[in-house]
Amino acid sequence: MTPSAPSLPNHWYAVAHEGEVDPGPLVVRLLGERYVLFRDEQGRCRAFHDVCAHRAASFASGWVENGCLRCPYHGWTYGADGACRLIPADDPGTAIPARARLHPLPVQQASGFLWLFPGEPSLADADLIPPLPEYDQPGWRVVRGEYTWNAHFSRVVEAGLDTSHAPFVHKPFFPNRNDAAVGPLTIHEESDRVWTHQQVKPPQRMGLLKYILRKDRPFSSSTLTSYLPAVNRIHLDFNWRGFQYIYFASNIPESEGFTRTKWIGLRNFLPQSWADGNSIRNTVTTYEEDRAVVEAQPPGPSWGQHAPELLLASDHLILAYRKRVAAMATLAS
Ligand code: FES
Ligand SMILES: [Fe+2]
Repeated sequence: MTPSAPSLPNHWYAVAHEGEVDPGPLVVRLLGERYVLFRDEQGRCRAFHDVCAHRAASFASGWVENGCLRCPYHGWTYGADGACRLIPADDPGTAIPARARLHPLPVQQASGFLWLFPGEPSLADADLIPPLPEYDQPGWRVVRGEYTWNAHFSRVVEAGLDTSHAPFVHKPFFPNRNDAAVGPLTIHEESDRVWTHQQVKPPQRMGLLKYILRKDRPFSSSTLTSYLPAVNRIHLDFNWRGFQYIYFASNIPESEGFTRTKWIGLRNFLPQSWADGNSIRNTVTTYEEDRAVVEAQPPGPSWGQHAPELLLASDHLILAYRKRVAAMATLAS
């Protein structure tokens, strides 16, 4: 890892949607390292560094057989605990060396994702996984997706905490640039997150929003949260009949300059499948609009810039996030 590469290993990262490992193997990148995920015979997800103990091949083109992970190079076969069970090139009965093993990493399935803890295993408390209580609850329809950014994850997270960019970056939904003041923000800080709740002007009544926005409702509300260091939750309440949309995004720091976002969208209106495509399209369009500005920001962590940035009242949530994640990164280095 280079000195400026992402640190922050002692956190849970949602590295895959739960259905992506069925049974695997799936190779994921996180903090400059590669990991392999697969499901054992009981369907439990297992994770190891993606480096075969024999001659360091990747498991990317390997396969899962009877709940064991097989290396594509010489067929070594690893059990769920990481111990090698079979070395095909050895004569039958030959003892398998104790060092022929992979070391498991903590991995958990929760809220529609597979969460990996790349740091010190004794710190991997599953209660610290960011919650998404609405997932799997009756009345919530789920869509999901993925996109990538040539940007540091902090810039991506901060775009999801940004209360003032909507009329400039997301003009189709928020066309009124002459009415862009966001008002005072109350910032809440807890051990695992920073968040704010605010009344906002409702978006344009376009697409599906025609069904859930009323002309006579002058505001909606939004709750913007970051679970430190790399998860965004955007919770919109449309102020009519309890209609809500929740965007929950894992911004996976694959490397210093590359972030992969795996996201889930939850809505408690229009539960029919025909509305899914529109829901996904709106998210992708929003992402493309954000990408244009986020990828043009300077590379590297937002908190480590040479040129000072000027964060003002409308940036208070970003400032709170930036301070917290910078302190975490310093502690971890
Ligand atoms: S490198 Fe994996 S079996 Fe040889
Ligand atoms: Fe945005």
